[in-house]
Amino acid sequence: MSETVLLIGGGGREHAIARALEASEVDLYACAGNRNPGIARIADGFETLETTNPKAVLEFAEEVDATIAVVGPEAPLQAGVADELESAGIYAFGPKEAEARIETDKAFQRRFMAEHDIPGCPDFETFDDMDAACDFVDEYDGDLAIKPAGLTGGKGVKVIGDQVTAEEGKEYIRDSDYDRIVLEERLIGEEFTVQAFVANGDVRTAPAVQDHKRAYEGDEGPNTGGMGSYSDATTALPFMTDADYDDAVSIIEATVDALEDYRGILYGQFMLTSEGPKVIEFNARFGDPEAMNTLPVLETDFLDILTAARDGDSLPALEFAPQATVCKYAVPEGYPTDPEAGAKVQVDEESAGDALLYYASVDERDDGIYTTTSRSFAVVGRADSITEAEQIAEAALEVAGEEGLHMRHDIGKPELVQQRIDHVEELRGE
Ligand code: AMP
Ligand code: GLY
Repeated sequence: MSETVLLIGGGGREHAIARALEASEVDLYACAGNRNPGIARIADGFETLETTNPKAVLEFAEEVDATIAVVGPEAPLQAGVADELESAGIYAFGPKEAEARIETDKAFQRRFMAEHDIPGCPDFETFDDMDAACDFVDEYDGDLAIKPAGLTGGKGVKVIGDQVTAEEGKEYIRDSDYDRIVLEERLIGEEFTVQAFVANGDVRTAPAVQDHKRAYEGDEGPNTGGMGSYSDATTALPFMTDADYDDAVSIIEATVDALEDYRGILYGQFMLTSEGPKVIEFNARFGDPEAMNTLPVLETDFLDILTAARDGDSLPALEFAPQATVCKYAVPEGYPTDPEAGAKVQVDEESAGDALLYYASVDERDDGIYTTTSRSFAVVGRADSITEAEQIAEAALEVAGEEGLHMRHDIGKPELVQQRIDHVEELRGE
């Protein structure tokens, strides 16, 4: 029987998912709040709708006779889209609202780790009372990360001793109007991501990726959804050992065991500290940009993973091409604080050369494609080494031009990768 897959979401991550499904025997339909031109070209049908409205998503799923749904972003998961599809008998690859709390409620996530003795959990306290939280900042011996419990698109965390002083941190806690926050030990080290395909108790992990959250080169400026990322031709990254990667995988496996019935992608964001990997957060979906590193090198048929998950079978072992990848986002100037929309996008799939082009939050008009206020498009280079992959990505950005756009040219360059290696060596006292 041929499958009809409904893809939910319209960012770069979802464009990568659509591409991964393009190679499979599948009828693909997509829905998102924005019309992503890359996805629209691949899909047999594209509907613009509010993806946090479970009824609207279900209506479209039923209209196209979807047999499987893939939920890209976290917001529809939080809104219960997987629950709604499931109750109508449509298999959703993505956790139900309750399981997605591992991402959507950071207080729940930390308590869950502590309760189940999952390794890699930093010291933490949760607070509903912001005065008590400020007192804790005064009393705590060391720096703290201040994290709103709910979703903030990666932009709500403030780290004392890094982005803010203790006084500024307390001001942020008092002024921000959050109902609940987590205060936790500031972790020092290098961040990396491991994404796992999870279903029927199986966990299949992908090579590690390093994202770059800060807006400007040299890791300066405000946090963003992610400016770009790289992965190596092996499972680990140049600043990690294979044992570090295995430790991260063990943490993900322990989490899946404790969650019992989790399905979809479980994304672990880790800090490689002097004591090994610690968990910064879990996400209930692919990373964006990380999906654009992982899916282009996935050689296993994505549809086979989805149908095995749905049919209660063991997930296939995953094969990845032994290639490095470098992904760079182009974002509107001023992003994320004061983004200016309306720049014309000059690059397209043909002009990107050897790079892959993924559209994100852009607007397709009669005379071309224009930026909005969020991340616009990404280019991905694939090659035998990170350095070569970086050059391929840069060549595509050159075609795109810089007019009205901002990008971090430093991502994946040898100097920055070397800094990461040196940083970890220094932490480990090597
Ligand atoms: P999150 O929204 O949890 O991904 O956090 C955003 C960013 O804040 C992370 O990518 C880290 O750079 C930083 N961060 C979060 N938690 C901590 C922590 N405990 N120590 C240091 N940095 C952190
Ligand atoms: N790259 C960070 C995220 O997807 O949350």
